[in-house]
Amino acid sequence: MAEIHLDTPDIPHPPLDLSNIQGDILRGFAKDTETFLFFRITDPAEFRSRLQHIIPLITTAKQCEEIRQKIQAFRHSKEYKPGERLPITELNVAFSARGLEVLGITDDLGDEEFKKGQYADAEDLGDVIKEWDDIYTQTIHGVFLVASNSPSGIEMLIAKVQSSLGDSIETMAKVSGSVRPGDQRSHEHFGFKDGISRPNIIGYTDPIYPGPKPILPGVILLGNVGDVQEINPPVHKERPAWAKDGSFLAFRHLQQLVPEYNRWLLKEATRLFPWIPSKGEVGSAAELLGARTFGRWKSGCPLSHSWHKDDPDIANDPQKNNNFDFGEDSGQTRLPFAAHIRKMMPRSNQPPDRLPFQQIVRAGIPYGPEVDKETEEESTVHDRGLLFVCYQSHLGNRRGFSFIQKLWANDPKFPRIESSVPGLDLICGQKGDLDRTMTGLHQNQQERESIAPRFVVSKGGEYFFSPSLKALREKFATS
Ligand code: HEM
Repeated sequence: MAEIHLDTPDIPHPPLDLSNIQGDILRGFAKDTETFLFFRITDPAEFRSRLQHIIPLITTAKQCEEIRQKIQAFRHSKEYKPGERLPITELNVAFSARGLEVLGITDDLGDEEFKKGQYADAEDLGDVIKEWDDIYTQTIHGVFLVASNSPSGIEMLIAKVQSSLGDSIETMAKVSGSVRPGDQRSHEHFGFKDGISRPNIIGYTDPIYPGPKPILPGVILLGNVGDVQEINPPVHKERPAWAKDGSFLAFRHLQQLVPEYNRWLLKEATRLFPWIPSKGEVGSAAELLGARTFGRWKSGCPLSHSWHKDDPDIANDPQKNNNFDFGEDSGQTRLPFAAHIRKMMPRSNQPPDRLPFQQIVRAGIPYGPEVDKETEEESTVHDRGLLFVCYQSHLGNRRGFSFIQKLWANDPKFPRIESSVPGLDLICGQKGDLDRTMTGLHQNQQERESIAPRFVVSKGGEYFFSPSLKALREKFATS
């Protein structure tokens, strides 16, 4: 296959068929609340036959775009009252490797991590198995992703799915999340705006705002240009024809220890920035330290643009909020090498022929209650965190979730910088409690290492394959 240069203006690829792609994959559902219904297939033949009743309920990428447009139009209409929501429901389905086996679908999808499942990958991911919730230690065959802007919308859709599938499945667990209330909507539980940077996908994203180079659709969708071979050195994988337009879904149930994170910020900020007032939100040392662990301020403003203070105008400007690389900061003055966004998307700190193949689409949602009294007690009482979801055409193979978690987040030497060992991603990197250090938390003391407790605990997860609509009709369902 000819080498593809991403600078080439017209990369040869057929247009994406958005009615063939499940709706959560390319951009994530528009949603206020989402339930992940994990199931086991108890009667494969019956399941395959009943699946045909579910397929018309599956929300495609095309329908998701229409829903977003409707929401926009509604918000700008005269009838709109703040806080009001259009009733929407969205449904997707994905299968684990064991689920495919049970259905008799034995073609090799060409991905080792998917094949072995997340439980077998857990230790390599840095997880502590005894901290996993029981559900994820069992054999899960599939997951329905049910999203809506109201709990009643979710219940209604789940009832439809369950009545259509009858006894052919057993519901193992329903795990639910919701966006946070008020001005914290779009912010994860540590308080930082999430879902800002997402890959611009050639043939899909429109408009494309300034930022990292657009990626080929095959980085997310199997069987499309950019799926196999183009990365340097090339990845040679055979994909069955029916896998085209499908994507691997990595699900992670990540608990966030919010009071512990805030306590650490206050304590460390006093030590690192003794001249800045430590308490209080705006302009405080704790706020600066928090921003340096993420690489963005709570508003979403990147430190690359404003490294002394938050600037919500930059955060809200799509021409600016993703338009940076780290070339202008060869050291750690603006943000540490191990800041979450620099580890997870190293921009100019990664060879330009690799990075465009190593991106993922994130589509998670927070779960659990808001922090209240725990702030005073400074330790977590109620379970809360992030139901992390990401899509990619490879889970390993030098790209995709498993690779990023193991070789970027968990590797203190990444990104490779001659003068420094960056350290761990303090947000999602995990290497056991003994190795939780990073450099550059303080702008002027590049080599100082700071030991931090864990703020995120993995409660488990699973790898799934989210097939195309055509595959669901022709490969999965029987009439
Ligand atoms: C509870 C755990 C996590 C929290 C609270 C969290 C939060 C955030 C926030 C606030 C941002 C910046 C806003 C944005 O650009 O969307 C971000 C970016 C990102 N995160 Fe996470 N994240 C978590 C786990 C993970 C994991 C497990 C991965 C993958 C292994 C990951 C990959 C990314 C990527 C790729 C970006 C975009 C970086 C960029 O393009 O600039 N995150 N995350």
